[in-house]
Amino acid sequence: MKICLADTEATLRLGMILGEFLPASSVILLEGDLGAGKTTLVQGIGKGLGITEPIVSPTFTLINEYTEGRLPLYHLDLYRLEPQEVLSLNLESYWEGIEVTPGIVAIEWAERMPYKPDSYVIISLIYGDDGDVKDGLRLRQAEITPFDCAIDKIIAVIYSRILQTESHNSL
Ligand SMILES: Nc1ncnc2c1ncn2[C@@H]1O[C@H](COP(=O)(O)OP(=O)(O)OP(=O)(O)O)[C@@H](O)[C@H]1O
Ligand SMILES: [Mg+2]
Repeated sequence: MKICLADTEATLRLGMILGEFLPASSVILLEGDLGAGKTTLVQGIGKGLGITEPIVSPTFTLINEYTEGRLPLYHLDLYRLEPQEVLSLNLESYWEGIEVTPGIVAIEWAERMPYKPDSYVIISLIYGDDGDVKDGLRLRQAEITPFDCAIDKIIAVIYSRILQTESHNSL
C-alpha cells in the first residue's frame, strides 16, 4: 500500500493511526531516504499511544523508551551502526518481550539489521517522482508492506481516514 504524505501533519496522522491500533509486540521497520520523515512517523505513533513526552530522534542514544502510553514504545535508530554492532544490541529482546514488557518497536534505518523478527511491517518513507512537487518541494510517500503479520484492519482505518481527510480538504 502506497500513501502520499502531503506534509508533516500527514506523516504524523499516519503514525497516530498505527499508535492507536497496533497490538503489543508489533515491529515497525522504518526504511528510506535521509530526512524523509521516519522520526516524524514515530512521533505520530507516540501520540496515538497517548505519550505526551516529546519523542526525539535516537540517532545518538540508539534507543529511547517511553512507558507512559497504552503500550511501551521502543524507538531505535541504527543509522550510526555497522551490522556487527547491531548484532551486539540483542534486538530480539524487544520483540520477544522476555526481558522487556511487550510494546511497539519502531526501528529507523532498519536496512542496517543483519536479521529480522518472524513478523514485522516495513514502512518505507521515500521522496516521490521529480514532477510530484508541492510548494517547490518533492512530495513524500509511505509504502507499507506487512511480512507475516495481519494488519488488514489497520490498513482499512488508514484508507477510511485518508478519504475523510480528502473530502474534508475539498470542502
Ligand atoms: N510528509 C512530509 N512532507 C514534508 N515534510 C515532512 C513530511 N514528513 C516529515 N517532514 C519534515 O521533514 C523533516 C525531517 O523529518 P524526520 O526527522 O522525521 O526525518 P527522518 O527520516 O527521521 O530523518 P533521518 O534520516 O535523519 O533520521 C522534518 O522537518 C519534518 O517536519
Ligand atoms: Mg530520524
